[in-house]
Amino acid sequence: MSNNAPIGIFDSGIGGLTVVKEIRKIMPQENLIYFGDTARAPYGSRSPAQIIEFMHQILKFFSEQNVKMAIFACNTMTALGLNQAKEKYPFQLIGMSTGVEQALSRSVNKNIGVIATQATIASGSHGNDIKNTAPKARIFPQACPKFVPLIENEVINGAEISESVCEYLTPMKDVGVDTLILGCTHYPFINESIRSIVGPDVNIVNPASDTAAAAYNVLVRKGQLADDKQQGRVRLCFSAGVDKAKRMADLVMDTTNVEFELVNLEV
Ligand code: DGL
Repeated sequence: MSNNAPIGIFDSGIGGLTVVKEIRKIMPQENLIYFGDTARAPYGSRSPAQIIEFMHQILKFFSEQNVKMAIFACNTMTALGLNQAKEKYPFQLIGMSTGVEQALSRSVNKNIGVIATQATIASGSHGNDIKNTAPKARIFPQACPKFVPLIENEVINGAEISESVCEYLTPMKDVGVDTLILGCTHYPFINESIRSIVGPDVNIVNPASDTAAAAYNVLVRKGQLADDKQQGRVRLCFSAGVDKAKRMADLVMDTTNVEFELVNLEV
């Protein structure tokens, strides 16, 4: 496979764009194909079986695109599906980092909050990671089912967001969480509202840069980095609402020369 083969990056919707942003920062030479399943988001309130079925549809699409690697820009599919997908595809898979390592290194009192989708919280993935690394740390998990539907509809500030941020995060403040993991790739879009509730002293961990770094390290180790003299081609594909997705992409990255496409996986 050529080193210039694309990297696939995927999420249930527009959230994974916050990961694409970090990947482009450290690997501007890579050709990228993003798939966001905006027609079927949110995934976080769906059953594990359905989440796994959708993940395989997306990975099959990436097989057809001859990717050299696929990066989960989705905590939910990482928690529920990564183990099921391992060894089944002819390309490397990189799961979304839980952010636990970064959180433990930044936290002083080891009271770690995690906000994520219902499916991710129910999977216990962050809690298991924390228990394995720092058994004495305390974890405060909180599912936030109201966030993704709002963010997918471009509601990233205003009363509705503030109210739900307040509802989910005030209890974390009350128990003295000093570090908060954003366990869903949609949440960096509402970072400002989250910051305004938790205050300036809480560390907010966005695991997107750790995920991008993990992908980079694997490509370096395998000698598979793309030609560094080129500017990578970036295709952002969505299963619905391409115009809306473009407006959200504009909020996190430079979209000059980025191609936007409608892709339906079910046909
Ligand atoms: N952005 C995804 C995640 O990181 C999933 C959001 C959803 O569709 O519920 O978990």
